[in-house]
Amino acid sequence: MSSASSTTDNSQLKPTYEKSPVLLEVEGLAKAVKVSASSGRFRAKKSVNLIENITFSVKRGETYGIVGESGSGKTTLLRALSMIAKPTSGTVKLNGAPIFAEGKPVGKLRGRIQMVFQDPESSLNPTMKVKSIVAESLRALNLPRPEVESRVISSLETVGLGANFLEKHATELSGGQKQRVSIARALAPRPLLILLDEPTSALDAVVQSQVLNLLMDLQREFDLTYLFVTHNISVAKYLADRIAVFYAGSIREIGPGESVFTNPLHPYTQTLIDAFPIADPDLQNLLNADIIGEPPSLIHPPVGCRFHPRCQYSQEICKSKEPELKEWRDNHYAACYFAREISERKKREKETKQMPATVPTAM
Ligand SMILES: Nc1ncnc2c1ncn2[C@@H]1O[C@H](COP(=O)(O)OP(=O)(O)OP(=O)(O)O)[C@@H](O)[C@H]1O
Ligand code: SF4
Ligand SMILES: [Mg+2]
Repeated sequence: MSSASSTTDNSQLKPTYEKSPVLLEVEGLAKAVKVSASSGRFRAKKSVNLIENITFSVKRGETYGIVGESGSGKTTLLRALSMIAKPTSGTVKLNGAPIFAEGKPVGKLRGRIQMVFQDPESSLNPTMKVKSIVAESLRALNLPRPEVESRVISSLETVGLGANFLEKHATELSGGQKQRVSIARALAPRPLLILLDEPTSALDAVVQSQVLNLLMDLQREFDLTYLFVTHNISVAKYLADRIAVFYAGSIREIGPGESVFTNPLHPYTQTLIDAFPIADPDLQNLLNADIIGEPPSLIHPPVGCRFHPRCQYSQEICKSKEPELKEWRDNHYAACYFAREISERKKREKETKQMPATVPTAM
């Protein structure tokens, strides 16, 4: 592996994913946990779906973005796909072969899916040396020791850190260096798919863009496929080929990045995008989104469309029956009964706002 160079404009250099074969297929995936819930005077354990009915696919070489408010289930999805927290039901296929089916993992992943965690501070063991941290991900491959050593060094070089980092502890590294070590750990087994859980949110702005550029360089160099969670609308817009919008544990909209951002179909996506004037970089963090109302309780989710208590367009049907994801435009899906009318209305409103004010004629 050679060292990645710095990049400026990734969009023009990135190969198109559309013609690539499907790498990851997820169908009807759910992850439930037992929580204590009170009902009247009684407390009982209740099974709660943190994510449910998750169906989507990612193509080889694609950058697939996932956005949504805090608590919507984005990390739960990545943990389920990497089998760190096994799913409850559904099917997951990698490269055409099932890796999870009928309630249990099928075979071994052997490093083919790797995850970069949100917070390098807590995801790197401070008592371990960098060489052991990176070698961790190779354990499942049972490689001979010299092969492990050479893969650790080459992975570190690939992320711009040299062999002089091998003996350092995580506590001796800066935030950016820690996240580079996390990326080296993910790269070492030569995975097919890398799950990135807000990989830059804990970093300052300059380091953020260095790490994002590094990720894009690596993708081109090694034909990597990314499933990328971000709170940052402009990061999603810039990097993602396709985007899935999460709300209360389910996907409400899926589409090509450009189409989702310029012409969103679901009222929730519209609210998210409206909350972030793209020109203002300080207002692009979804964690700070000023969206009216609270996300629903996962223990007692609303009946019908789970967005209806916060939706200004809600009708009777929305309160009784959950809408399914439907293709409204080419490759652009939304789970809303009135997606077309609402998005057209929204588009008209936007055009009216952008029209120059009429100059009154002189009397
Ligand atoms: N093991 C668990 N037991 C009970 N509830 C859980 C468990 N893990 C996660 N949750 C809950 O599931 C919901 C989804 O959590 P998750 O971490 O996936 O959200 P997220 O979209 O990644 O949020 P953020 O953007 O803040 O990282 C949250 O309400 C969280 O409190
Ligand atoms: S289905 Fe109804 S409540 Fe749900 S987003 Fe669409 S209009 Fe709003
Ligand atoms: Mg998360």
